[in-house]
Amino acid sequence: MAVKPPSEVIAIGRAEKIGDGIVAFLPQGMKAYPASLALLKPPVSQGSPPSDWAIRPQFAQRSTGTRVTVQVPEGADLYGTGEVTGPLRRNGSKITLWNTDNFEYAREDGHQLYQSHPWVLGVRKDGSAFGVLFDSSWRAELDTGQQIVFASSGPPMPVIVIDRASPQAVLQGLAELTGRMPLPPRWALGYQQSRWSYTPDTRVLEVADEFRKRKIPVDVIWMDIDYMDGFRVFTFSPKDFPDPKRLNNALHERGFHSVWMIDPGVKFDPGYAVYDRGTAQDVWVKDAHGSEYHGEVWPGAVAYPDFTMPATRHWWSALYQGFMAQGVDGVWNDMNEPSVFKVLSMTMPDDNWHRGGGELPPGPHLQYHNVYGMLMTRATREGIQTALPDRRPFVLTRANFLGGQRYAATWTGDNASTWNHLKMSIPMSINLGLSGQPFSGPDIGGFSGEATPDLWANWIAVGAFYPFSRGHTIKAPQQKEPWAFGPAVENTARIAIERRYRLLPYLYTLFHDASMDGTPVMQPVFFADPRDPRLRSEEQAFLLGRDLLVVPAWAHQPALPKGIWRKVSLIDGEAGDPYQATLKLRGGAIVPLGRVVQNTNEESLDPLTLLVCLDAHGEAQGRLYEDAGEGYGYRQGNYRLTRYRAQQQGDTVRVSIIGSEGKRTHPARDIVVQVITDDGVFSGKGADSRVSVSLRNPH
Ligand code: GLC
Repeated sequence: MAVKPPSEVIAIGRAEKIGDGIVAFLPQGMKAYPASLALLKPPVSQGSPPSDWAIRPQFAQRSTGTRVTVQVPEGADLYGTGEVTGPLRRNGSKITLWNTDNFEYAREDGHQLYQSHPWVLGVRKDGSAFGVLFDSSWRAELDTGQQIVFASSGPPMPVIVIDRASPQAVLQGLAELTGRMPLPPRWALGYQQSRWSYTPDTRVLEVADEFRKRKIPVDVIWMDIDYMDGFRVFTFSPKDFPDPKRLNNALHERGFHSVWMIDPGVKFDPGYAVYDRGTAQDVWVKDAHGSEYHGEVWPGAVAYPDFTMPATRHWWSALYQGFMAQGVDGVWNDMNEPSVFKVLSMTMPDDNWHRGGGELPPGPHLQYHNVYGMLMTRATREGIQTALPDRRPFVLTRANFLGGQRYAATWTGDNASTWNHLKMSIPMSINLGLSGQPFSGPDIGGFSGEATPDLWANWIAVGAFYPFSRGHTIKAPQQKEPWAFGPAVENTARIAIERRYRLLPYLYTLFHDASMDGTPVMQPVFFADPRDPRLRSEEQAFLLGRDLLVVPAWAHQPALPKGIWRKVSLIDGEAGDPYQATLKLRGGAIVPLGRVVQNTNEESLDPLTLLVCLDAHGEAQGRLYEDAGEGYGYRQGNYRLTRYRAQQQGDTVRVSIIGSEGKRTHPARDIVVQVITDDGVFSGKGADSRVSVSLRNPH
C-alpha cells in the first residue's frame, strides 16, 4: 500500500496590511502578488498587520496541490461560499469549486454548481465578523468545519483576511477588494418574463400583449436559443426571427426591454462568418496537443473562444456591435462553465490549453475553468458598452467567479419546480449576496418539471422580492406565465408583482447602495441584529435592505428580530390572499414607495409615498435615490439622494427633508405619508417636503 507523503508546511512569507481591517498573507517563496481575477486591483501594502491580528492561514504543499487551513474562532457561524445548495449557515459543509452545468442540482447534491466563490464569511458570537478570501481560480474543495480548509489543485495562493466590527463591514471590505456591481439600468429591476423559448417572433409579441391586457406589470421579455439560426451565436433564424430590429421596436413601443441569449460555443461550421473570423484570428481554446478543441453543445460541435487572451476578448466584444444595433437591450450568457455535452466531466479536459496574455500567464483548463464564464461576461459587458456607450449594460450570466458582480447579474441555473427548490432559493440568493453578488435570483416557478398552481403561486409571492425577479421554464408543454394557472393564481401574481413595483423606489435605492459599497440588497435576517443568536440560521424570512422584512406565507416559525417591526400593506387585496408574503417595516425606518405602474418607463413617483414606522422615541429616517434610470448622467452628479426624517410631537408626526445630494432638481410632486402604528395607519398629504400627519384618526 502506498503511503501518502505528509504534506509539507509552507511558512508565511509575507503578511501585510492592505486595507482597513484587511491583511494579506503570501506563502513563502511568493515574491509578488500573482495576477488575480477576483481582485479589482493588485493590493498595495500599508505596512505590518496590527499586532493583535488573530486570523491567520496555514499553508501546506501536497502532491495534489495546496492546502490552506484557517482556525474558526469558537462559536462563529459561517456563510458565503457562493451559490451552492444547503443551509444558509455553512458550518459543516463541504463544497467543490468547479463550475458545473448541474441540471436540477442533481450532481453532488448541488454542492457544486455553476459558480465558484473561494470566500467564507464568519460571524462571531459578539456580532463582529471576519472573511477569508483564497485568491486562486484553480479547482478546489472548500470545507467549512471547525476549521476552514481550502484544498486547491493549484500552487500556493495569497490569502486575504478581513476582520471588522460587523458582517456588513466585512462585506464592504470584500467590495473594496473585488469591486462592486455597477448600477444597473432601472428596467432591470422590473419583473421579467422568460421561457425556452418564445418563438416565433409573433409569439413574443403575443405574450407581451397579454401582460399589458391583463395589467400585470412587467419590464423585460427574454429570447432563449431558438431565435438563432441553427444555434449559431450572433445570428437570427430567417424563418422565425426574420427581422429582430422590428421585433425589438415593437417591444419598445409596448414599454418592454428585450434580453437575448448568447452562448460561448461557436458552431464548428466553415462558411459561418463568426467561426471563420474566429479561426482567422486564432481565438479558440486548444487541446493538450495544440489542436483546436471541439466539444458538443446545442449546435453540435463547437469551438470555444479562449477568453484568457486579450485578442479573443476584443474580438468577442466587437461582435456585439452589430448585435446590439438590432435594438437588443440586454444579453444573457449561458452554458459558460463551459458546458460540454456527452462527456462524463461535462466540461472540457483539464489539460486543454489557455494561452493567456496581458497579466494572465498561459495555463491549463484546470487553472482557468472557474473563470471562463467570468472572462466571457467581461468581454460581453465591454462589447455592449462600446456598442451603446450611453447605456448601462445589462448582462446575465450562469457561470461566474468571486468578483464577477463587476460584469454581470446572475441566476441560479436549472432548478426544479419543487418545494425544496423554492425554499432553497432563499439561502442561495442570500449567500450569493454574502459572497459579493447582490443581483441574483432563481427561475421563479422552477425551470424543470411541472409546477402545480399552488407551488407557482407560492413562488411568485416570494419571487417578487428577489433582487433579480424573472419567471423562466424549460422547453416543455407546460406554460408558466402568470395567467397559465387560472384566474386565482393570476390574481396572486398580479398583487405580488404590483407590490414589487410599488417598492421599486426603495429597491432602486438599495441597488444604488450596493453599487456604492457592496451592501447586499437581499440580506439575512441576522443582519438586523448580528448579536442575536436566534437569527443566525433563519433562512425562510429575509431582509430587503435594513428596513423591510419579507416573511413567506409558508414560513414555519421563522426567527424574527426583536424590536419594533410592523406589518405593512402595499396593495388592496393583498390581505385576503393566502399566498402573499408578510412585509414588515422596521421601527425607525421610512421606506419610499411609488405608484403601481405597468413598466418602469412610466413615472411612478407622483405621488411619492413615504411609509413611516416610528421607533420607541417617535422618530424615523429614510432615503430615496433617484436618477434618469439609464445612462451615466448620475456619475456627473445628475441624481438626487434625499434624506427624510419623521418626528412625533404630541399626536402629530412631521416629515421633513433633512438633507439632499446631487444636482437633479427636486421635482414638484405630491407626497403621501402613511404612519404605521399599533392603532392603525394614519395618513397625510402634502405638496412637497413638509407633511404633517395627525395621529387622531386612522384610516
Ligand atoms: C440552459 C439554461 C436555461 C436555458 C436553456 C436553453 O439549460 O440554464 O435557462 O433555457 O439552457 O438555452
